[in-house]
Amino acid sequence: MLALLEVRGFEGAPRHLGLDDLGRDTFTFIEGSVRGFERWADAQVAAAGRLLRGFHDATRGSALAADRSVVCHHDPGPNNTIFQDEEPIAFIDFDMAAPGEPLEDVGYMAWTWCVSSKQSAPEAERQASQVRLLVDAYGLDADLRSDVVDAILDRQARNVEFWRRFLDLPCPGVASREQVESRIEWSQLERRYVSANRPVFEAALSHGH
Ligand SMILES: Nc1ncnc2c1ncn2[C@@H]1O[C@H](COP(=O)(O)OP(=O)(O)O)[C@@H](O)[C@H]1O
Ligand SMILES: [Mg+2]
Repeated sequence: MLALLEVRGFEGAPRHLGLDDLGRDTFTFIEGSVRGFERWADAQVAAAGRLLRGFHDATRGSALAADRSVVCHHDPGPNNTIFQDEEPIAFIDFDMAAPGEPLEDVGYMAWTWCVSSKQSAPEAERQASQVRLLVDAYGLDADLRSDVVDAILDRQARNVEFWRRFLDLPCPGVASREQVESRIEWSQLERRYVSANRPVFEAALSHGH
């Protein structure tokens, strides 16, 4: 897939350099920094939305998208984005990439870049205006805007299921049992927050449309 992105001229991803002596895949190192879950300026959210659109467009209609519209990254949070001078310029960590629909990544990004149930987070109206900004910067088809809130809720539910599977294992491996449990609780809390504020998010997305 990284080779496809290269052929199609998408600059916002590492290049695959091939295998090293030990048979490990190697990639170009992208200068900059990876960030955590923070509050972002409007310009950063817009840049992230454009970056996602560029990625999707570079995969659209390819054999890798199979019978779906695009290849989705499926984990395009700020933790898998490289920032240069405060601007998101590339995605990394394509382990979860798979054929999908744009709304899946748009929903996940809306959640991980714009929404937070924390007490210290901006009020829901402000969060909703950033979701709208992300969707506008992405250039989502007008008829899909009313599905964005459901896409956020869907990604949150999928996150719960993703982490729940690890609880069935004798040892989660990727994180301690307590960490896995707290990720499940956090996703559920975030989902309840979006659900409770659905009218606020929907109003922001419908303005002018
Ligand atoms: N191509 C790259 N260029 C620069 N830094 C990278 C690159 N790939 C990975 N990293 C760094 O390594 C970290 C972990 O990589 P990532 O692919 O996200 O693995 P994980 O599955 O552990 O999240 C990233 O947060 C980033 O700091
Ligand atoms: Mg990562």
